[in-house]
Amino acid sequence: MSQQALRFSEAEKIGRVSAVDTSRILIDVEDHHQITRVGIGNLIAVRGATESEFLIGITERLTRTLRDEFLPESSDADSAGEFGPRPEDILRVVLVGSYRTVEGNEANRFKRGADTFPQIDRECYLIDGGNLQRFMGLLAADVDESERLRLGHFVIDPNAVAIANGDKFFQRHASILGSTGSGKSWTVALIMERASQLNYPNLILLDMHGEYGPLAEGDTSTGSKGFAQQYRIAGPGDLDKPGDDVIFLPYWLLNRDEMLSMILDRSDQNAPNQASRFTTHIRTLKQKTLDRENKPDVKRTFTVDSPIPYDIGELVRLIDIDDNEMVDGARVGEKKKGDWNSKLTRFLSRLRAKIDDRRYGFLFQPPNSSQQYDWLAQQIIPLLCSNASCPGIKIIDFSEVPPDVLPVVAGTFARLLYDVQFWMRAEKRTPFCLVCDEAHLYLPVKEDADAIEKQSLATFERIAKEGRKYGVSLLVVSQRPADVSRTILSQCNNFLVLRLTNDSDQSVVRKMMPDSMAGLTEMLPLLDTGEALLLGDAVLLPTRIRLDKPSIHPRSGTRDFWREWGSREPDAEFVKEAVETLRRQTRPEA
Ligand SMILES: Nc1ncnc2c1ncn2[C@@H]1O[C@H](COP(=O)(O)OP(=O)(O)OP(=O)(O)O)[C@@H](O)[C@H]1O
Ligand SMILES: [Mg+2]
Repeated sequence: MSQQALRFSEAEKIGRVSAVDTSRILIDVEDHHQITRVGIGNLIAVRGATESEFLIGITERLTRTLRDEFLPESSDADSAGEFGPRPEDILRVVLVGSYRTVEGNEANRFKRGADTFPQIDRECYLIDGGNLQRFMGLLAADVDESERLRLGHFVIDPNAVAIANGDKFFQRHASILGSTGSGKSWTVALIMERASQLNYPNLILLDMHGEYGPLAEGDTSTGSKGFAQQYRIAGPGDLDKPGDDVIFLPYWLLNRDEMLSMILDRSDQNAPNQASRFTTHIRTLKQKTLDRENKPDVKRTFTVDSPIPYDIGELVRLIDIDDNEMVDGARVGEKKKGDWNSKLTRFLSRLRAKIDDRRYGFLFQPPNSSQQYDWLAQQIIPLLCSNASCPGIKIIDFSEVPPDVLPVVAGTFARLLYDVQFWMRAEKRTPFCLVCDEAHLYLPVKEDADAIEKQSLATFERIAKEGRKYGVSLLVVSQRPADVSRTILSQCNNFLVLRLTNDSDQSVVRKMMPDSMAGLTEMLPLLDTGEALLLGDAVLLPTRIRLDKPSIHPRSGTRDFWREWGSREPDAEFVKEAVETLRRQTRPEA
């Protein structure tokens, strides 16, 4: 049999169990010198019912109280037999798992959850030194080589590598939370980098600020080569001559509700008429395309939401006809207003305004090629494939998308990928993960969401609830967990929580943790940059880790205010240029 991972001598004992709760215990520390060895987040082994079993816990709180007591054996001869202060040291420990030296045929087994309660007076030991190293080795060994996602090192044992189970981490959604500047973007870059070492990874990062470009371009200062493919949602400057890396989401990809959320004013008394005419015409136009393309099988079963190209100019024309229609009156030669006459005017003007606005060009002014029936498949193939010619790590730059439509664009993009994956033959699907950076911007709490945001929420919530079955996972990243949809966050099974200072954000995180972990969240405001609490089913033990630095850093854009104010004179020319850029809504060439 292999050696026992945990071996304690009598001298290593720190105390005995003095109180037992369902998930926590109190340990009375007998040797008062020992308490100085223990810190918050240390591991403690409590002797279990048999010699071969230990319950494993994490220290949550240390307290020392001084009590006046009769000290009969005081070492000080003068004070012998007098009253004096005696320390009472108590450790509060949350139980997280159990370790057995042998279980069936297997040696050194650790499993999460304590399946027995310790008894009062059981001996307790601090796991450190050789015991800690062997124990951490045990945790790593539990994850099969091919499933290992290496994230960093344990804070309690900087020599031990912190590994998550990569399968479990992605299977049921994960989340990276932390205040601004705590290191989330670097963590995302690290995870992307680790995944890029696999043969066929498939991660699609929604990059809201265009900060992940270096992952595609590489970093010349360190000589690190880029590993990702970058795409960009078309900005106003891309409309005339779009490059290959520019993504359009033509209006005909939007389903009825997504489109109406942008155009319909629900407070308009004619809103139901407008929605109904809009739906009828779109159906007719899509049907026309199917006739032209000779697709009788699609025509039999398509719906108004099916992504089939149609001409938006034609739609405007049909609505305009309705809006002006005169029909025969009761008497010969008499004309009266048609059923829709004047009821669609406002709808039409809202639609026209959107079509003409270049900021919405990626939706309403797509290139002519996007009208072709096969265009959609050609767009989606590089996004869902992963091989030598299309890298599996994709970065989608949303930085030029107007904030008011950001949710609908992110939502439509995600829905499209999800729908294609949904309809793909199950055995042919490659799982993919949508990395939602700055998720509070487009996945808000439901009560605060407007019509547009509700569309995006519906898509992402659907993925959060059903995605696992179709191999679609979310990695939700946010600096304001309190502002992110609870439905989505509560579906996440793994959390990397970095420094989190705001009270309401902490309380959201606390509510998502099992009750027994609540104490650990108290360390969140104190975490250093790049440190995180890693919790969830991808790790056996909730742990504080120091994340590795990615070899290519995202563009953080952090400015040295004080130094720059001291050394760099602003240039009026560039202020002038910026004013023109603002008017043009297109950045000048670098
Ligand atoms: N693992 C790490 N080790 C050391 N330093 C780090 C680490 N991660 C991040 N940092 C430092 O913290 C800075 C901010 O990190 P990052 O851009 O990832 O923050 P963020 O949490 O994404 O912030 P925001 O919410 O504003 O986007 C980095 O520029 C870097 O200097
Ligand atoms: Mg960031």
